[in-house]
Amino acid sequence: MAQRVQGTEDLFGSYMQRWLEVQDLARELFGRYGYEAIETPAIEQVDTFVHGIGESSDVVRKEMFRVMSGALLERSFEEGGEQNLKARQRLALRPEGTAGIVRAVVEHDLVPQGAAPVKVYYAAPMFRGERPQKGRLRQFHQLGVEAMGAPDASLDAELIVMLMEFFEALGFPHESLKLRINSMGDDTCRPAYRDLLSEFLHTLEAELCDDCRERANINPLRCFDCKNEGCQTIMSEAPLLRESLCDECSAHYEELKGYLDSAGVAYEEDPRLVRGLDYYMRTVFEIDALGAESVGAIGGGGRYDGLAELEGGRHTPGVGFALGFERIELALAELGLVREQNKPAPIFIALAASDLKSEAFRLAQELRAEKHYVEMDYQGRSLKSQFKLADKLGARYVIVLGPDELAAGQVMLRDMKSHEQRSVMRSELIHELS
Ligand code: HAM
Repeated sequence: MAQRVQGTEDLFGSYMQRWLEVQDLARELFGRYGYEAIETPAIEQVDTFVHGIGESSDVVRKEMFRVMSGALLERSFEEGGEQNLKARQRLALRPEGTAGIVRAVVEHDLVPQGAAPVKVYYAAPMFRGERPQKGRLRQFHQLGVEAMGAPDASLDAELIVMLMEFFEALGFPHESLKLRINSMGDDTCRPAYRDLLSEFLHTLEAELCDDCRERANINPLRCFDCKNEGCQTIMSEAPLLRESLCDECSAHYEELKGYLDSAGVAYEEDPRLVRGLDYYMRTVFEIDALGAESVGAIGGGGRYDGLAELEGGRHTPGVGFALGFERIELALAELGLVREQNKPAPIFIALAASDLKSEAFRLAQELRAEKHYVEMDYQGRSLKSQFKLADKLGARYVIVLGPDELAAGQVMLRDMKSHEQRSVMRSELIHELS
């Protein structure tokens, strides 16, 4: 039997319904904050991700799925490998949404000089070649927003407030949400801090894990994310960026906290929060569901003021977040908060004789034209099993078509809640049901 790829999921039934419900909630809530939907391609040039997410990040180095047509694969073997391909031929499945959206904003000049910020949201599958485990898929669904065109901390605060409101709308109680925030500094203060941290790590090189020894050279801040206990102990003693922030970054961070305080949003300052994508500067944040931490962060984001330039555009500051649909559902299940889906209740048309099928077909179309949800039997079941099926589908009413009743211009209408049954004139049926 053919099987789905490990670390991917099929979305159907109530799970698919929930994904649609989550998107509806997003459209409604994010719409109130001025966010419009956007969709960018699932494949982009590798460079789009390398520029922003960073050559040295795990996402780019290890997790990005490369895409190649069969013909190109053959040719690249013959011609000596990938390095001979042109940039436009080196493609990848997007591991996240931000880089592609910034590419689109630059390409279509969606934030002309002096214009108000553009605010967009997306709901789309992302792909990362990670080792599949609980809360970690190779194809997962993100719901994210990006606001581009203003460096002001009020924009960061606004979208964090919106995100927390969204989590509550999804069913997370206020007290189950833990928001952590930090500042990653900017090009003025981060380079000096990087050197400081790198120096600190080199003095302890022998005690670091292999990965961190490498990170100490190429991207020392990533060592804060290492899961190795020895490294964590070392990092608990490491100098913190917070103590090296320049005046502008400090002021931006203080402003952000001020806005969050005034909105009544609780947060924890986490000076070791660094996030895995290189494009971040200043604000970064992550959200965990308390009691379901084992699924991993349910959402995260931050500011990326230099990304548009890295994608070849003019300076366009930006900030955004993304949350993982599958992790949200896992976390809600772990907290025992999964809600029953409200399924729509159909009107079921049952036949007392099989030669009334075309009559039933006609009636179904008439009712659907009036916006009713209508079901009927397609398999020649007995009247008794048709009632069973109607029950299973949660039908609100069953219309029974019988030869004698129809001859008298009537049908039988059964209310499945009260179990009352009565004759209704066929000509009055639509009116009756509305
Ligand atoms: P991220 O933290 O890499 O950020 O991913 C955001 C969310 O996607 C995570 O908090 C998690 O819920 C979900 N997620 C990530 N990887 C997986 C996985 N392998 N399996 C299941 N769920 C996963 C970003 O992607 C940034 N683009 C967010 C952002 C937008 N920053 C600024 N704007």
